[in-house]
Amino acid sequence: MDRVRLQIVGGGKMGEALLGGLLAARWAPPEQIAVVEPVAARGKELADRYPDIEVSRSPRPAEGVVLAVKPDVVEAACREVAAAGCDRLLSIAAGVTIATLEDALGGPESVRVVRAMPNTAALVGAGAAAIAPGRDVTDDDLDWAEGILGAVGAVVRVPEKLLNAVTGLSGSGPAYVFLVVEALVEAGVLVGLPRDVSERLTIQTLLGSARLLAETGQTAPALRAAVTSPGGTTAAGLRALERAGVRAAFMEAVAAATTRAREMGGA
Ligand SMILES: NC(=O)c1ccc[n+]([C@@H]2O[C@H](COP(=O)([O-])OP(=O)(O)OC[C@H]3O[C@@H](n4cnc5c(N)ncnc54)[C@H](OP(=O)(O)O)[C@@H]3O)[C@@H](O)[C@H]2O)c1
Repeated sequence: MDRVRLQIVGGGKMGEALLGGLLAARWAPPEQIAVVEPVAARGKELADRYPDIEVSRSPRPAEGVVLAVKPDVVEAACREVAAAGCDRLLSIAAGVTIATLEDALGGPESVRVVRAMPNTAALVGAGAAAIAPGRDVTDDDLDWAEGILGAVGAVVRVPEKLLNAVTGLSGSGPAYVFLVVEALVEAGVLVGLPRDVSERLTIQTLLGSARLLAETGQTAPALRAAVTSPGGTTAAGLRALERAGVRAAFMEAVAAATTRAREMGGA
């Protein structure tokens, strides 16, 4: 059987997000990308949605593989991938170490492994992901992995030992931000805004602040200083946040999530 250029193993939420991103970015022609999805109903759904993509139940020979299955089936999926044959594999399975992946694939001399920690915003093409190299991984392998995840967001490179910290910051980060949004919406209601108005203003405030950070190149402290007039409303609001220990709360949150990622088996 011909080798396909890229095979996405696991056609769940993340697998589909990557497929969509890669096709939109014209990363490769559709006939060079395949998807493996063992659940027939989900496979059919994907085949209907992406008619030019081959969707099958088990892996075929491939140059590269993206492993996007749940952590509990990673080892079984790796054995199938190794039996079919591939040169390199990018895993997005949370908490599964490079050593575990390399072992299940028959050793780093058989398949070169890059491990990633993406986040849920990849589903809308605005993800934040970190990648870490396994043994014998080349710069070209890392460029390859960055190209794939780059189709659905930003990518940074770190050693594997920092992936638990990445999990604590950007992996769990969207949930922290959603909690902040909930709180701000309630706060808007508290001061008299209708709920739908409060929601719209809150979401747009978040989006606008994120874009200011990303697009002006200015730091958070500089942007904050620019809207904090002496004796003004923002200074009063910020004092309340500092009193409530917001900074310390976020430090505790990221540290706790990092510790938990380590406990759950990440290297
Ligand atoms: N969602 C996120 O935001 C996020 C963020 C960071 C990391 N991750 C990681 O990304 C991975 C995928 O997450 P997800 O949210 O896309 O999960 P998901 O929607 O549950 O997708 C997993 C997919 O893989 C399929 N699968 C199971 N066993 C397989 C096998 N042997 N061969 C091929 N495919 C198989 C699953 O089918 P079944 O229906 O049989 O399960 C399912 O379609 C997970 O390891 C997760 O930890 C996800």
